[in-house]
Amino acid sequence: MCVKIGIMKTLKEYLAEAGQNGSALGHFNISNLVQLRGIISACQKTGSPAMIGTSEGEADFIGFKMARAMVDAAREETGLPIFLNADHFHSFEKAKEALDAGYDSVLIDLSKEPYEKNLEITKSVVEYAREINPEISVEGELGYLVTDSSKIYKEKIEIPPESLTKPEEALKFVNETGVDRFAPAVGNLHGIAANEPKLDFELIKKIRAVLPSEVAMVLHGGSGIPDDQMREAVKLGFNNVHISTEIRVVYVDALRKMLAVAPDETTPYKIYKPVVEAVSAKTAEKLELFGCVNKI
Ligand code: G3H
Ligand code: ZN
Repeated sequence: MCVKIGIMKTLKEYLAEAGQNGSALGHFNISNLVQLRGIISACQKTGSPAMIGTSEGEADFIGFKMARAMVDAAREETGLPIFLNADHFHSFEKAKEALDAGYDSVLIDLSKEPYEKNLEITKSVVEYAREINPEISVEGELGYLVTDSSKIYKEKIEIPPESLTKPEEALKFVNETGVDRFAPAVGNLHGIAANEPKLDFELIKKIRAVLPSEVAMVLHGGSGIPDDQMREAVKLGFNNVHISTEIRVVYVDALRKMLAVAPDETTPYKIYKPVVEAVSAKTAEKLELFGCVNKI
């Protein structure tokens, strides 16, 4: 099922709507067209808008212009509101490269740098984005996630208290940088650790309460967060959730299975058919969980 839409709403409008109706816009990372196909198919089936993210590594692999062209083609082919985000870009230069290639959004992530450096570079990316197009959405991060990679960790990972976001600093950072979206550290981490994550709901409430209502709050490290915690986090005001590891896991599982059952198959589109289906099913599950189905 695909609904062709006339004038598409902007990313900022979708984020604002999610904030108002208590849902979260899903953000899914991709390294290639196979993942994009699976995500789009889930958005079509569920009638959901979505953000597609490429990290610096993913963008370098796909190609910045190629990523833009793929998402443009997906929008044109399906009529779906799909937006492209430069995810965890760590320098002004890389963020500029993405914005110059036409990305709709960027997360400039200097969260592991001293506050002043984070502030200065985030601010300069906001200014550059505004010059190009005021509709570009810029995200900043304060407090840091202990892990960087979207993968399965065999060990337990504890969250050091000093990595968590302090509400008063979050407000100062948001006001001084002018970001549209803010990513806090509230007990979340990238990837899936051996121990279950435990989000700090009191901290989430405090951060949401101090942030201006028009600033979207973004939950990173969505993989591995139990459904009940995720529902509560969305209810408390996360209107954008990032998922990568769980998509990667179903992707490689389906691929390994296909290669095992059909070792003589050499046609890529046949090999990748069950992979697209697995990515689609996992994405649809997350879109349901975030409450963003039928929100086009
Ligand atoms: O920016 C990407 C995400 O925060 C993904 O985190 O791999 O834990 O789903 P995840
Ligand atoms: Zn992230």
